[in-house]
This record gives sequence, structure tokens and C-alpha cells, in this order.
Amino acid sequence: MNILVTGGAGFIGSNFVRWLKKNAPEHRVVNVDALTYAGNLENLSDIPQDEGYRFVRADIRDRAKMNEIFFENDITHVVNFAAESHVDRSIVDPELFLSTNVLGTQALLDTAKQQWKLAPEDKYSRAFREGVKFLQVSTDEVYGALGKEGFFTEATPLAPNSPYSAAKASADLVCRAYHETFGMPLNITRCSNNYGPYQFPEKLIPLMIHNCMEGKPLPVYGDGMQIRDWLHVDDHCSALYAVLTRGAAGEVYNIGGNNERANLDIVRLIIRSLGAGDELISYVKDRPGHDRRYAIDNTKITTQLGWSPSYTFEEGIQQTIAWYQNHMEWLEHVLSGAYADYYERMYAPFFQ
Ligand code: NAD
Ligand code: TYD
Repeated sequence: MNILVTGGAGFIGSNFVRWLKKNAPEHRVVNVDALTYAGNLENLSDIPQDEGYRFVRADIRDRAKMNEIFFENDITHVVNFAAESHVDRSIVDPELFLSTNVLGTQALLDTAKQQWKLAPEDKYSRAFREGVKFLQVSTDEVYGALGKEGFFTEATPLAPNSPYSAAKASADLVCRAYHETFGMPLNITRCSNNYGPYQFPEKLIPLMIHNCMEGKPLPVYGDGMQIRDWLHVDDHCSALYAVLTRGAAGEVYNIGGNNERANLDIVRLIIRSLGAGDELISYVKDRPGHDRRYAIDNTKITTQLGWSPSYTFEEGIQQTIAWYQNHMEWLEHVLSGAYADYYERMYAPFFQ
């Protein structure tokens, strides 16, 4: 396979490139990333550019560039991670989320259609080149929020509540339409919250680890009893590879490891692991539209594709905490400049 990974300098994308190099080195990988605030080439500093791996700085909305990259590299598979990914930022700037997540995905789909359709000018033809696939990396947040009971299945209606999840849901629907209308060979995956190495410290787990290491307040939104279903990023990567190689055309697959935790429990676990005290916890004003609970029913991917997660949360979180402790230089680089401005704008009002 010649795989175009988009957003491969971000958290999950860089872990996926590394996962491929380790577990399926026979594939060629082209990593396209615009290097926004979330993209960081240091995430890939251990991966040499050679015959099997190439990085190109480009925006997925740049159709001419995407066409060129497809053509030059004979791309056979796309794994689309590129997106604006942080709910809190989407509350401040929804338009950027629609532009990147929806129109960016559509530009990629058009490029793939142009390059892979056997008769691109014939609107009635649904024939595509053999063995190609577009994988849209989506999120369980498209399903909205759960109450105390129940799980998201692939048949749960989409009911996104944040501009981020609305943009991801819209992209999912555009993908669906390209499959139904044009016959585009594709899959959509909807994964629960990821954690692990290289996650940008605007997200809950790395933010709490970092603040705790610095003895800074830990900003818990609302009552801290919101529930997320956590999966180690490596397990997400192995699930994506299972779908890329074995997923049935047009199907959606939920990805999750049955690991529900309240935010407050995670924060307390991090505090204990780092030898700090509960006095660091600071309850702050809740996020507007905050989803109460997410939980994935993973029956389809486990039974149909034989995938299962390999990390327990206990080992995964300890490995992740240790990773941040051992990568202070990475953290310092990430935290300088734009992050400091973001943190100030987002959290300073709570701590005055
Ligand atoms: P991230 O913010 O760490 O990385 C996103 C990457 O996309 C960055 O490297 C950024 O530079 C790049 N990018 C942004 N706009 C771009 C554009 N226009 N063109 C090219 N590149 C662009 O995000 P992440 O947490 O790694 O998430 C990756 C994907 O996985 C997203 O699509 C997200 O919706 C999805 N997802 C994330 C989670 C999670 O818990 N983090 C869970 C399920 C699904
Ligand atoms: P986040 O990592 O932003 O992921 P998402 O909103 O996509 O699930 O947040 C995870 C949970 O942690 C969510 O319920 C919001 C909460 N949270 C806090 O309580 N404080 C924080 O500073 C952050 C960033 C998140």
C-alpha cells in the first residue's frame, strides 16, 4: 500500500506513522500536515525520511497540492486524521472547524475520486481502481451525550453538541454520501477518547500531568463527574489498521476498550501517581454544552474484525505519565509561544 496519512504530525497521526513503521514496514507512507499549532515534527524525530516515509507540509484544502501528492506517490490508501480537534477551541472559533474538518475532508475525497475512479468524467460510473480505500478517522462525539445508561453503537443517531463534533459529524455524512453516490471505497471509524505519548497538553490527561508536575492548579470543569471512555493511542492505531486492511466497504466501525472513567477519578489518579495532593484540584466554570457521558459498544469491530485492545488503563496511564516525565524537553518546546497565549486566554479568568 502507498498510504497518505494526513495530520500525521499531530497526536494520533504521529503515533499511527510510528505504529506502521514498527508493525507494517512494507507500506510506503506519505505524511501531509499543515503544521498548525497542534502539528509538531518533533513527534516524528525518530522516523527517518527515506524510500518508505516522506513528510510534506501542505493543507488538505489545497486541491492542486493534494492532486500532485496523489499522483507523484501513486497513493492507494488515505487515512484522514487532519482536523481541528479541541472542543474548547471550537467554542471560540467554530468556522475554522467547519473549514478544516468538513471542506478539508471533501477536498481529499474529491482528489481520491478523481485519481481512483476508472472513468472520472462519467457520473454514472461507480467503478474504482482495485484495492484502494479512504479511511475517515472520526470520533464517538458525533453521537452526542449519553445519560447514566447505554452505549453508542454504529446505529446510534448522530446528535453532535459542540462545533467540533458537529464538524466531524458533517464530514462523516459527506463521506457516506461519496460512498452512496459515487461508490467510493471507504470506511469511517468512531473512536473514544485517546491518551498516550505526544498528546498536546491542551487535552485533559496531558494538561493535568503537566500542571501536576509543576504544582499548578488542576482545572476541573463543573463537578468533574463527566465520563469519557479512554483508549490508549496504540490500540486506536491497531484498530485503524484492522479497518484499513479488513473493513467492509462503506461500513462504520466504533472503536473503544470498555474503559469508562469520571474526569475527577482520572485527575486523582494522576495526583496520586505523581505524589501530589488533592488541594491542587480547582473546580472551574463548566464548558458550555459539555457532554455528560460517552461510552462505546465495540461489539462490531471485536466480532467482525477480531480486534481487541492490548493495554489496561492502569498500565497505559502509568506508561503515559512516565513518558511525559521523561520528555521534559518535548514538553518545554510545545509549551512555549502559542500554547502560553492559549493557556492564559482559556484558564486565567478562572484563577484570578
Ligand atoms: P491533533 O490536533 O493532535 O492533530 C491534528 C493534526 O492535523 C495536526 O498535526 C495539525 O497540524 C493537522 N492539521 C490541522 N488542519 C490541517 C489542514 N487543514 N491540513 C493538514 N493538516 C492539518 O488531533 P488528534 O488528537 O491527533 O486527532 C486526530 C484525528 O483523530 C482528528 O480527526 C480527531 O477528530 C480524531 N479523533 C481524536 C480523538 C482523540 O481523543 N484525540 C478521538 C477520536 C477521534
Ligand atoms: P478533552 O481532553 O478536551 O476531550 P473531549 O472534550 O474531546 O472529551 O476533555 C476530556 C474531559 O475533561 C471533558 O469532559 C472535559 C474535561 N476537562 C476538564 O475538566 N478540564 C480541562 O482543563 C480540560 C482540558 C478538560
